[in-house]
Amino acid sequence: MPDSTAVDRSRSALLRRSFRKTFPPAVRGEGVYLWDARGKQYLDFSGSAAVNFIGHGVPEIAEAMSAQAKRLEFVHSSQFTTPVAEEYAAELLEFAGDNFEGGCVYFTCGGSESVETALKLARQFQMEIGQTQRYQVISRGQSYHGSTLGALSVSGNKRRREIYLPMVREFAHVAFPYCYRCAFDCTDSCRRCGQEYAAELEKAIEDANDAVAAFIVEPVSGATLGAVVPPPDYLQSVAEICRRRGVLLIADEVMTGMGRTGRNFAVAHWGVAPDILVTAKGLSSGYAPLGAVLVSKKVADAIAEGSGAFLHGFTYNSHPVSLAAGRAVLRIMQARELLRTADSERQGSTAAILRSKLETLREVKAVGDVRGIGLLWSVEFVADKATKQPFAPELNFAGRVAEAAVERGLLVYPMQGCVNGVEGDHLLIAPPAVITAEQIAWAVEKLGEAIEEATP
Ligand SMILES: Cc1ncc(COP(=O)(O)O)c(C=O)c1O
Repeated sequence: MPDSTAVDRSRSALLRRSFRKTFPPAVRGEGVYLWDARGKQYLDFSGSAAVNFIGHGVPEIAEAMSAQAKRLEFVHSSQFTTPVAEEYAAELLEFAGDNFEGGCVYFTCGGSESVETALKLARQFQMEIGQTQRYQVISRGQSYHGSTLGALSVSGNKRRREIYLPMVREFAHVAFPYCYRCAFDCTDSCRRCGQEYAAELEKAIEDANDAVAAFIVEPVSGATLGAVVPPPDYLQSVAEICRRRGVLLIADEVMTGMGRTGRNFAVAHWGVAPDILVTAKGLSSGYAPLGAVLVSKKVADAIAEGSGAFLHGFTYNSHPVSLAAGRAVLRIMQARELLRTADSERQGSTAAILRSKLETLREVKAVGDVRGIGLLWSVEFVADKATKQPFAPELNFAGRVAEAAVERGLLVYPMQGCVNGVEGDHLLIAPPAVITAEQIAWAVEKLGEAIEEATP
């Protein structure tokens, strides 16, 4: 009998994501490359998890963080504000454009904390304006808004929620346009059915009898569905319904914000003005834990002129060293014009090159769809192109492709469940904006080989 009390000395002291998988120790990063302790080089084709935008190992960021830490490492936000927080908040509001003029920014340590903050802000806003019955937050199925329980309650990612369901408060989840597998079997790229999906939101708001405080949406789907771009007029209709129904619109741009889709924020592609916008990941490009909640003037004024205090806080909100990192990242993005690089609609841009190279993968037997915008793309796999039949989930096809890619020194982000939460395999591709045309060509060639190798 094995002794269950014996200490397994080979086990890491770190609680890693998996006890089964082996994780190479990463020791260095530069540009689009990462190296492990054995000296193996990897091309970071997914920007880790759509995090890195400016490239790894940019010395200016380390210098800005070090200078801030030497001057002032931390103060508590109940006692002080800091110059770096005030100046960076103003810069971000300007970056966000007219819609956030007169608004304000709340800084956190990442996406989930920012989503929690946004949910509570929405509730407090409704309280301040006398809509005390409004507390529900509607979200979309097949979405992901974070791993904390509040963020998980508004997420639609089946696998990430499943075992925690008894612990989360459930509100309505509405369907979402996913043109490759459109529920309406459309033939016009969802031009018409975008409206049907928007109407479903209106019905859910109506069914909740004035209890809805907010609707949260990823303007372009992140990892769960894989870079699904909404059809024309869908987001505009959603925004109009929210406005008309007294429901706040929260744009979750944790993945899509800060230039990733070729605009400052993805909502700009459709001219949509959210009441609250949440961002993280690219905000600090991974150099420090950082998230931000951008609050429109309407919401900020309601609290400022109402109770006067936001009933929420984390010890580490507005951490000066993280803010110094984020601010330096913004400077680098602007100085190196990385937004132009990430604009797939601009001829000859890095993002346009990425799009056309990825499109060539459509010729590969197991590739069903290639979709995305800017520097956020997804490749969806199918067992049968004609019927769009997905691979059996047990096959872990996306995981097998990712493993075959890693063997070749290429990092991608595999996901399962895009079809119905369980079936469906896809990869997320979101490289740093400093990737070159040669590196893209190499990465797509290796990815094609990895898909062929994984195909049964
Ligand atoms: C759209 C979206 N929202 C929220 C989150 C949660 O962010 P974090 O992992 O930084 O807590 C993620 C993470 O992938 C995300 O993609």
